Amino acid sequence: MPTKPWWPLPCAELTDGALTLLPWPRVASLPGVREDVWAASTDPRAVEFTTIPSPYTEAMLDAYLAEPGPDCVRWALVVGGRYAGSIELRRETDAASFGYNTAPWARGRGLMTRAVRAVAAHAFAHGAPRLVIRALPGNAASRHVAEANGFTYAGERGDNVEYVKTAR
Ligand SMILES: CC(C)(COP(=O)(O)OP(=O)(O)OC[C@H]1O[C@@H](n2cnc3c(N)ncnc32)[C@H](O)[C@@H]1OP(=O)(O)O)[C@@H](O)C(=O)NCCC(=O)NCCS
Repeated sequence: MPTKPWWPLPCAELTDGALTLLPWPRVASLPGVREDVWAASTDPRAVEFTTIPSPYTEAMLDAYLAEPGPDCVRWALVVGGRYAGSIELRRETDAASFGYNTAPWARGRGLMTRAVRAVAAHAFAHGAPRLVIRALPGNAASRHVAEANGFTYAGERGDNVEYVKTAR
C-alpha cells in the first residue's frame, strides 16, 4: 500500500507556552529582525560552530531571510514578539537533519531544547522516519540539546558527531 510522502513538511506555526515557532515566510514581520539575525549570524559561537560565512554581508542576510527552498523547512523562534533564533530541517535520504542557532541575547534559557522538541514532534507526526543532529565535537551546548531531546549518539561523521532519533 503506498504511504503518504512525509516531505515537504508543513511549516505550521508551533507554540510551546511562551515560545512560538513562526513559519519562516513570516519572519520579516518581526520588529528589529534584521539586526537580530545579523547579530545571530556574526556572533563568534555561530561562526565557530556553524557554516554561516564570515565575513557576513547584507546580501547574505537578504538571502537568508528569503524562502529557504524546497529541501528545507525553517521557523523563527519568537519570545515576547522578538526574534530569538532559527531552527530548520533539511531533507536527506529517508531522514531530515536539524540546523539551529539561538540569538545571542536568548541563549541559555532552554529555548533550543524546547524548539527541537516541538519540531521533532511535528516531523514525526507527519511521518518523518529519522531525524539527525550533527555538531562539531566541541559544541557542548548543541550536543546537550540533542541529548536532552533523547537523540542517540551515532558516532563521528567527518568533522562532526552525529545524533539520531527514529520514529517509534
Ligand atoms: C547550540 C545553541 C543553539 C543552544 O541554544 P540555547 O537556546 O542556548 O540552548 P538551551 O538553553 O536549550 O540548552 C543549552 C544547554 O547546553 C548547556 N550548555 C551551554 N553551553 C555549554 C557548554 N559550554 N558546556 C556544556 N553545556 C553547555 C546549557 O547549560 C543548556 O543545558 P541546560 O538546559 O541543562 O541548562 C546555541 O548555543 C547557539 O546558537 N550556538 C551557536 C550556533 C550553533 O552552535 N548551532 C548549532 C550547530 S550544530
